[in-house]
Order: sequence, then structure tokens, then C-alpha cells
Amino acid sequence: MSTVVLATSSAAFEQKVRRAFGDEVNGSLQRKHTEGMFLDSLSAAKQLTSENPVIVAIGPNIPVDLALEVARAIEEERPEVAVVLVAEATPELWEQALHSGVKDVLVPDAGDEQIRLTFSRVLQSADRRKRNLAIESGTSDSIGKVITVVAPKGGVGKTALATNLAVSLAASGEGRVALVDLDLQFGDVGNTLGLDPEHTIDDLARVPGGITATSLKVFLTPRDESLFVLCAPFSPAAEIPEAVVDRTVRLLGEDFGHVVIDTSAGLNEATLGAIDLSTDLVFVCDLSVSALRALRKVIDALDSLGVTEPNRYFVLNRADSKVGITPSDAAAIIEMKIDIEIPSSPIVPRAMNYGSPVVEESPHSAVASSFESIAGLFLNSRAERKRRFSFGRAG
Ligand SMILES: Nc1ncnc2c1ncn2[C@@H]1O[C@H](COP(=O)(O)OP(=O)(O)OP(=O)(O)O)[C@@H](O)[C@H]1O
Ligand SMILES: [Mg+2]
Repeated sequence: MSTVVLATSSAAFEQKVRRAFGDEVNGSLQRKHTEGMFLDSLSAAKQLTSENPVIVAIGPNIPVDLALEVARAIEEERPEVAVVLVAEATPELWEQALHSGVKDVLVPDAGDEQIRLTFSRVLQSADRRKRNLAIESGTSDSIGKVITVVAPKGGVGKTALATNLAVSLAASGEGRVALVDLDLQFGDVGNTLGLDPEHTIDDLARVPGGITATSLKVFLTPRDESLFVLCAPFSPAAEIPEAVVDRTVRLLGEDFGHVVIDTSAGLNEATLGAIDLSTDLVFVCDLSVSALRALRKVIDALDSLGVTEPNRYFVLNRADSKVGITPSDAAAIIEMKIDIEIPSSPIVPRAMNYGSPVVEESPHSAVASSFESIAGLFLNSRAERKRRFSFGRAG
């Protein structure tokens, strides 16, 4: 097996890569280049990946448009193989390369250190891609629960809830969990869970040939073997088409036992799209009359849109705050019973700031216990026992 395949006529470039790596990769490096190979991109992709390499580096001395076509073919046929383009890296080329599924661009006259760094970085991320691809694909009878956390006002605890819920579900042993950050402009699920994502949902919008179950897995950030996170774009200017959200949620629902979706404040297209595909909605609010009224308006809007199928739960966050209204007042404004009450506690922001969820950081705290009770609503084994649990009251 060759770990690295160099697709180039340049023996000098091969020598350079061998020198840069020393003994590390030499035994598993191969140069493949035949006359006319690049004229048929699909057959070139097949030839270059026939020995299951981790990396295929295309160039130098390959016309860029042909190299990009082969990169696209590899991305479609063999998404676990990472393509590095060796060419003069202009901003336009980078843009085209990323759209063709290329993982990195190396200039032909790169020095040893740069070659070593680029290949090591790509090898590491390829390793992660392979692990993600090992997630088994579901069958039609394993459609999971899609749980969307909804609140029109900012700062009421959507992200605290979504992250702790996802971590609790993942720890339950009832299947793998996907957590999607649909706060597309300012999502902070990645930071909240201490992740350093390599990819975000923005990358999905650029997959050549459209999103497949396989390409989707490649863009998830694994937190452990049970929890996989699709992070929000790095840039608030990124535009994620509705169709990308739709396809993503559908595919995740087929492969994961639970899909938890964090949303942004407001009620935008992405949130509505997720709600449409949800089996369960968790409405969250704190004891603020204006936030409660806004949430009631969202519920009315869903009713008038005919979105009545998903189960609905109401979680009251910071339920013990002394702010002039009581949980009963909140339930009256929302016109729903409260399923779970979460107490106010400084350990919530502290844990979020540390990038570690409360349910792991302070598992015996009342607040962690409330988050676990929310998970209990969605777990087969614990659903009945945990239903209607609220802290400080009979469960
Ligand atoms: N039960 C709680 N006790 C104390 N602090 C809390 C509690 N729940 C959330 N917080 C804190 O309140 C702040 C807002 O919470 P969070 O980010 O989860 O809200 P959000 O609804 O996701 O906000 P946004 O709409 O801006 O994304 C955070 O600093 C969080 O740590
Ligand atoms: Mg949030």
C-alpha cells in the first residue's frame, strides 16, 4: 500500500518529497504518471487511488484544469482520499481548489519544512476522515430522533441545553449522536464543547456533486466515539442554502440514533427547515416576560403553519431566578406545562467558558441532573421515569 501517491511527471519533485520526509514516508511513497492519464478524469482517479492511498498529490507539471477535474472525481468516488494540489497558489486557484475538494495547495518550489508540514497536516485530517467514515450507515428502519432546540430570544440557554443534551444522550449508550450548530452566523457549539473543527457546515455547501452520506461524515468533528458535531461556519458571511440544511438533517437522521440541533435567535429559514424535519421540539425560555411572549408567538406561528407533528417540550431555564414571575406564570404565558426546570447556576457559564459541558464537569450538580432529565425524555430506557422531572420537586 502507498500512503502517498504523487501524480506528476516530475522526478525532481518526487526526490524533494522523499528528502523532506526522510524515512517517515519513503517506503510508502509512489509516483504514478502515464502518458494521457489526465485526459479521462474518472479513470485517472481510479488509477491514482487503486492502492488505497491516504494522499494523492497532483502536480507539478499538470495543467490546473485537468488536475482539478481529477480532484473532483476523487472527491466523488473516494472521499476518504485527501487530494493535495501542487501548483502556483493564487487566491483564485485556492477558491477553485477548495470547490473541487482539494484539501491543501502546495507551491512547486516549497521548501522541505513546508512540504513536511503540509503532508503531516493532511495525513492527520485524513486519519480523522477515515474514522468518521467508519460510522455505519443506517437503514430505513433506523431513522433517529431529530430534536431541535428552539427559542426566539438570544441568551436564554439554547446552546447550553443543546450541548448538554447531546453529551448526555451520547453517554447513555443508546446509539450515536449528531449535534448540528444551525446558529449559522454566530454558532458557538464548537467552543462550548472545546472542539477545534477542521470543517464546518460551510464546507458541505461546496461538496462537488452534492452531499452524500459519505461526504457528510467527512465534515463532522468527532468529540468521542459517540458524539459527532457539525459546527457552524467560521465566517458569519457564509451563505448556507436551505437545501444544504435539509439534506444534512435528513441524512444525519438516517445514520444517527439522535440528532440534536441548536438554532439561532429569531425564526429563520434554517430553523424552520430543521423544525420541519424534527420528531421533537424543545422550547426553552427563562423567566423573562418578553422572551416568554416571543416564544408563545413562535408556537402560534408553528400552529398556523400546520407544524403540529413533532412532539413539543417546554424547558424553563433559570427557573429559580427571583425576577417577579414564577414558573406557573411562565407556563400560563406559554400555555404549556413545564416538562423540565433547570436551576440557575454559575457552573453553567463556567463550564461553557472552559469548553466542557456541565454534565461532565459537575455531574452531581442539580443543574447537570436537570440536563440529564431532558435527555431522559428521549431515551427509551429512561423515558417514563424521567418524564415530568423537575428539580426540587417530586419526580
Ligand atoms: N441555567 C443557567 N444558569 C446560569 N447561567 C446560564 C444558565 N443557562 C445558560 N446560562 C448562561 O447564559 C448565557 C447564554 O446561554 P446560551 O449561550 O446557552 O444561550 P443561547 O440561547 O444559546 O444564546 P444565543 O441565542 O445568543 O445563541 C451563557 O453565558 C450561559 O452560560
Ligand atoms: Mg446559542
